[in-house]
Amino acid sequence: MNGTTGNGTTGWIARVFVPGDSAARAVGSDMVAAAIIKAFRAMGLACDLVRNGSRGLCWLEPMVEIETSEGRRLAFGPITAGDVEGLVETWTRADKALLHPLCLGPTDALVFLERQQRLVFARCGLIDPLSLDDYRCHGGLKGLEMALTQSAETVVETLTASGLRGRGGAGFPTGIKLKTVLQADGAQKYIVCNADEGDSGTFADRMIMEGDPFVVIEGMVIAGLACGASKGFIYIRSEYPDAIRVMGKAVDLARDVGIVGKSVLSSGKVFEIEIRVGAGSYVCGEETALLESLEGRRGVVRAKPPLPAHEGLFGQPSAVNNVISLASIPLILAKGAAFFRDFGIGRSRGTVPIQLAGNVRYPGLFEAAFGLTLGEIVEEIGGGTASGRPVRAVQVGGPLGAYFPRSLFDTVFDYEAFAARDGLIGHAGIVVFDDTVDLWEQARFAFEFCAIESCGKCTPCRIGSLRGVEVMDRLALALDPDADLALLGDLCNTMKFGSLCALGGFVPFPVMSAITHFPEDFRDRAKRQKTR
Ligand SMILES: Cc1cc2nc3c(=O)[nH]c(=O)nc-3n(C[C@H](O)[C@H](O)[C@H](O)COP(=O)(O)O)c2cc1C
Ligand code: SF4
Repeated sequence: MNGTTGNGTTGWIARVFVPGDSAARAVGSDMVAAAIIKAFRAMGLACDLVRNGSRGLCWLEPMVEIETSEGRRLAFGPITAGDVEGLVETWTRADKALLHPLCLGPTDALVFLERQQRLVFARCGLIDPLSLDDYRCHGGLKGLEMALTQSAETVVETLTASGLRGRGGAGFPTGIKLKTVLQADGAQKYIVCNADEGDSGTFADRMIMEGDPFVVIEGMVIAGLACGASKGFIYIRSEYPDAIRVMGKAVDLARDVGIVGKSVLSSGKVFEIEIRVGAGSYVCGEETALLESLEGRRGVVRAKPPLPAHEGLFGQPSAVNNVISLASIPLILAKGAAFFRDFGIGRSRGTVPIQLAGNVRYPGLFEAAFGLTLGEIVEEIGGGTASGRPVRAVQVGGPLGAYFPRSLFDTVFDYEAFAARDGLIGHAGIVVFDDTVDLWEQARFAFEFCAIESCGKCTPCRIGSLRGVEVMDRLALALDPDADLALLGDLCNTMKFGSLCALGGFVPFPVMSAITHFPEDFRDRAKRQKTR
């Protein structure tokens, strides 16, 4: 609603933002957007409506924002199409808007946002995802411009010094991976962006691809400059149609203005990007299975060595990196290694987009420096359970992550602290369960999931996961619980040390953590079954 309105009064709203992110669309943001345009039309006003990314406050979606002509943003949510008429009427004046019952106040004062340290997601929700002007105005392309003034070695050194570790799960230092590719011999090198995001309760990759796609592209181009790769692939899971669409448009726009293509920002350096869509297999997120899939074969894990950095896509040196790892690169180049390294704790540097899901009061994405405790994250930031019942367990790190009881809520969100407690951070997804959860069912599910998703290449995973389901079922019959629990321990050891990749190798995390921290769900279940 720019400038003078149809009835002669001056509008104070510059823009209206309705998220086009799939989490918001899933709860009706398309209908809200259509209703807003209709309401403005009925009032004889023009409406500058932007489909932005999500701010990550999922329980408030669709969260609509208005931007005043002074650049302030006011948030309203959750909004239904039915709320729109009355709501838009209040937008004619600031005092009226603030009094609307669904007004949440200034967006940047929302506690969930105010407490965050948004580095990677700084632009997400703020800008029009497909506007390169918006991207530039909010600091975009500064990292790439800086990288173009430096040698590949210097870019690698900066990334290594920043302490950035891969956000896909393994936490491997990104700078060292790129250095390995840089030093490898190969006529053609590749950057492969892993956007398969299969972990339960995770959505950070999707959110940034839909809300700030150019940062992923910029990160890939810089990674390419750092290791001598001239081609990148983004491998996106098929369940993300919106991300596929937005990333596709963003790549086209980036090509149109020379951010990617034959001469990156007129530097003479080549970097092309192609998008490929996966077919819905969890194991295709594993880097070597992903490469098989990219090459057009079934997603089966490759034995290592050779590492993908030496022999990856089409046998050429390749850096396979997670979306968030790549999206972290531009700001490190723009602001320097020390800026990023100053956030965090121990060997976990920078920020991490924590994703809160499951039975949690405030589900969403919370970016913060490493170092919060699990209790702070779940109880304070997440607000406990959505059901209002006590939290009993949280699973951290996806389907292969450990279950943590409340007694371990002092665990610090840091790779090493989680490993010390037989857990993992993974892609930083946290799924919350209340006191009605049955950990026997969850442990059984871990085996079942592995059996379904196993690529079948190695015996401990292919056969062990099925044997695990059988032992869990026998345990529930309470025939000989001690023997079955001992057998489960043995089986987990075999899978942990004998599996070729972390799909089979990490199943012991959910299974053994459930048995260790919630023994009553296994032994008492056995007793209960016996007395029936
Ligand atoms: C079964 C399995 C599934 C995985 N799924 C993903 C995934 O969806 N996304 C991802 O980035 N990494 C995933 N990984 C980790 C990748 O193999 C690899 O470590 C990662 O893409 C490297 O990128 P990073 O160093 O930036 O984290 C998975 C690993 C395993 C074993
Ligand atoms: S652990 Fe499972 S998924 Fe990994 S290689 Fe072996 S069979 Fe395949």
